[in-house]
Amino acid sequence: MQGKNILCLLDFDESDFKLFLNRAADLKKEFKAGKKNNTLSGKTLGLLFDKPSTRTRISFESAMIQLGGVPTFISSADTQISRAEPVADTMRVLNKYIDALAIRTSSQEFIAEFAKYADIPVINALTDLYHPCQILSDIMTVIEKKGSCNGLKIAWVGDGNNVANSWINAAASLDFELYLGCPEQHFPNSEILEKALSVRKKHNKKENIFVTKDPFEAVQHADVIYTDVWVSMGMEGEGEKRKKTFADFQVNSKLVSCAKKDVTVMHCLPAHRGEEISNTVLEGRHSVVWDQAENKMHMHKAVLDILIDR
Ligand code: CP
Ligand code: NVA
Repeated sequence: MQGKNILCLLDFDESDFKLFLNRAADLKKEFKAGKKNNTLSGKTLGLLFDKPSTRTRISFESAMIQLGGVPTFISSADTQISRAEPVADTMRVLNKYIDALAIRTSSQEFIAEFAKYADIPVINALTDLYHPCQILSDIMTVIEKKGSCNGLKIAWVGDGNNVANSWINAAASLDFELYLGCPEQHFPNSEILEKALSVRKKHNKKENIFVTKDPFEAVQHADVIYTDVWVSMGMEGEGEKRKKTFADFQVNSKLVSCAKKDVTVMHCLPAHRGEEISNTVLEGRHSVVWDQAENKMHMHKAVLDILIDR
């Protein structure tokens, strides 16, 4: 990791992943056993969001409360940021009031700028480029369902977007195979792909990230199929065009039947039934989307427990 921030999973090595995954599993076990945990009593988490959120916001809020701390939601529009107060000034003030800051915004650079002036941990709660905490909790779900993520074939189907980019970042350090089936004009960012592959090369690990424009090739023998919306937040203007481009990339029963018999189907949610995923698959026996959503809370507890100084 780089300092006490979670900005991008490319900053994580295998031992960082282990630390977060093990802590989240322990905290989940403790929570299920009804044990109280007040380790973050007296601490405050700021959540600075300028995009909508159901899961990430509320699971971070619940995570903080369950650990004895207090979350404070900060809508960017209601702060002086909306009237052009510089990030440098905002962050140096927030340093005095709160103990960690989770940010959801469009620009990855904006979050990096906050991190530059932060004395407290800064957590990426989604940008247009990455969604690191989502993939941390998703890997937790994969491990719960499959025992390990090592050696699995994970198939991404759909848009080469922020969530896909974070899977690519994770594949730099972890030993699963990632197949991305995307329309050619929506292949994942080649720079992000190259960086992940160069990390593997540096550590003499074999290439494990493959991109194809054929969704059936991507899911063949897959252990996990993962999809996400075709129209991410901020892309609404391209909505109709995207729905046409992605029409052959729906995760439906026909596509799922080409994967392994016990394939696990994942979606970070919110889902658009009839677009990127059929209702039958989302509600069907392979789908683990509700467990995935639950695990966001357990992973966010681990994130706060590990990052916040006490
Ligand atoms: N998966 C996820 O990040 O959902 P929200 O947009 O509801 O936070
Ligand atoms: N790719 C989606 C993820 C939502 C959790 C978006 O950015 O809107």
